Amino acid sequence: MRSIILVGGKGTRLRPLTYETPKQMLPLVGVAMIECVLSDLARHGVTDAVLALGYLPNRFIEAYPSNTIAGVGVTYAVEPEPLDTAGAIRFAAQFGGFDETFLVVNGDVVSDLDVSALVARHRDRAAEATIALHTVADPSGFGVVSTDEGGRVLAFVEKPAPGEAPSNQINAGYYVMEPSVLNAIPAGVRVNVEREVFPRLAETKTLFARADEAYWLDTGTPHAYLQANVDILKGRRSERHGAVVVDGSWRHPNATIDPSALIINSAVDADCVVGSGVVLENAVLLPRAVIQSDCEVRSSIIGPSAIIGPGSRLGPTCVVGAKEHVAAASHLSGDVRLGGV
Ligand code: GDD
Ligand code: MG
Repeated sequence: MRSIILVGGKGTRLRPLTYETPKQMLPLVGVAMIECVLSDLARHGVTDAVLALGYLPNRFIEAYPSNTIAGVGVTYAVEPEPLDTAGAIRFAAQFGGFDETFLVVNGDVVSDLDVSALVARHRDRAAEATIALHTVADPSGFGVVSTDEGGRVLAFVEKPAPGEAPSNQINAGYYVMEPSVLNAIPAGVRVNVEREVFPRLAETKTLFARADEAYWLDTGTPHAYLQANVDILKGRRSERHGAVVVDGSWRHPNATIDPSALIINSAVDADCVVGSGVVLENAVLLPRAVIQSDCEVRSSIIGPSAIIGPGSRLGPTCVVGAKEHVAAASHLSGDVRLGGV
């Protein structure tokens, strides 16, 4: 089945990391998120995908000039300006010449959802669109969905106000769609699939859903991005995308790590330097990050080529941008973001 991967968002919740790198090009334990997403899909039989690009499209195109990512054949549909989720789906479908049932995936979701069962549900109900649902404790940051016993969607509420979520079942960002859905999306303008298209399809009773409680995570916040890394390190995923994890952590072979450093549930990427007496716990170090001696870095993301001065204590939850320099003996905690455009 042909598929569209939405990867054109600005990744605002992961700034400053996403000023230079689109969210889906950030690594999960050393492998770009888009590769993880496509290899998850490949395991469910997806063989070709149109990447719906808008923000920093060249970062994808230059990284994969052979038009193959994780064994999946890809083409690149670059929006002239951001068209939002439904506008992007229409644009990419037109670009790809889609004229049969197709799959759409939010490119910042890593999951083991059963795509084949989702397609089967879609065909069985003769739906116009069918969405995968996943249960979460706090649905307020997602699209929240209620269904009848047959899986027909009764209500779809995007990011409901506190206390107004109709259920704990959220839109998992995996959709099977008929080409007829595209006809109702005006061309060349911003249209949001969650606020405009799905509520309308629910009203016409042609929107269905399938609950799936397999592993699922939207990586779009610092907390979730750290979680996605730790879940791979701890073997909570069926797939490690090739990373060699030793004692719960991954160290890129090119990283220089002092033997006295204590590294717990952390990912240390290429060409990083970790000094003596350093403690890393639930930390992600992006390529070339330098942690000088006697630092403690917990539940924090250190951007590419950032330098953390000696004796600093970071986290939880600090996000240090590319090439930032944190002064010696800094103590930072809370939702700290360092680094600008
Ligand atoms: N091409 C393109 N153009 N892609 C876009 C655009 C755009 O204008 N805007 C957003 N995207 C992409 C993002 O890159 C991301 O992969 C996907 O669309 C969803 O956008 P997010 O910004 O990550 O949305 P969200 O996480 O707040 O909410 C969405 O995902 C939740 C599940 O992960 C919604 O679909 C919710 O309903 C859902 O519960
Ligand atoms: Mg998201």
